Amino acid sequence: MEYITEFAAAKINLTLQVTGKRSDGYHMLQSLVVFAGVGDYLRFSPAEDLSLEITGPFASSLTTDPNNLVLAAARKLQEQLGKNCASQTVPGAVIRLEKNLPVASGIGGGSADAAAALRGLLRLWEADLPESDLTSLALELGADVPVCLSSSCRWMEGIGEVLTPGPELPKLFAVLVNPGVPVSTPGVFKALKGNFMPASGKPSAIPALAELIGYLENTPNDLQAPAISQRGIVSEVLTELRGSHGCLFSAMSGSGATCYGLFDTAEDAESAATTLSVENPGWWVAPTFLR
Ligand code: C5P
Repeated sequence: MEYITEFAAAKINLTLQVTGKRSDGYHMLQSLVVFAGVGDYLRFSPAEDLSLEITGPFASSLTTDPNNLVLAAARKLQEQLGKNCASQTVPGAVIRLEKNLPVASGIGGGSADAAAALRGLLRLWEADLPESDLTSLALELGADVPVCLSSSCRWMEGIGEVLTPGPELPKLFAVLVNPGVPVSTPGVFKALKGNFMPASGKPSAIPALAELIGYLENTPNDLQAPAISQRGIVSEVLTELRGSHGCLFSAMSGSGATCYGLFDTAEDAESAATTLSVENPGWWVAPTFLR
């Protein structure tokens, strides 16, 4: 049977500065976002109706009810395409999601899946949308969905919808670690203590690893302390990562609880991941590259 596939890469916020709060409760950010080599896979086959099957190690954390972001993305796209060409019926699809990323974990699993669903269904249905319409539709699904449409290094501002190319970065190897506790994004934002600061500058190139680490050390994730206040285990993850042989820097991604450690080589990242997995059997540990 004919099908197409899309990769939904894990999103890593190397930095995340919260610069203000809008009247609707959403927060203004500046974040340097990169994407990992690990992620979910989505497969799309033609069908009359829409349906979703979920497989993979984290399949049991999700349901296929209409709130599932993949189905919500598919239905929103059908509606939009239906409006654009009222004379034609928009087809359906069988979507199979291989859920490899932990859910509610700060690495944009749901957002990356929704973005991959939009990309995949446009290909399957041989349809097109103006970029601005696609970005607006993505934003309706979640603040992180627009950045996941591109899946490449970006400065993310506004509440997530203002995207510009990120800086030139050195080759990055990482270990992602999630301790198996979900974190509520609204809860972490709520726990932020006011006093927003202006964001730091956005260098157009940070080509050396030492320079990048200097930049990251001076630009901590503003959501890390509130996440630790709710889930103390995040602090333990950061300590374990930082203590791993070859780890140059560690911080939390997004609203947590997943943390990343940066390494100079793929070998260092792999051997640290092996040790971390053996010592913490309940944790999700993934060595990867970042781009
Ligand atoms: O847009 P998304 O559904 O991912 O956001 C989840 C929640 O996180 C929002 O309802 C809001 O409470 C919080 N949030 C925020 N500012 C952002 C993104 C998310 O306050 N820029």
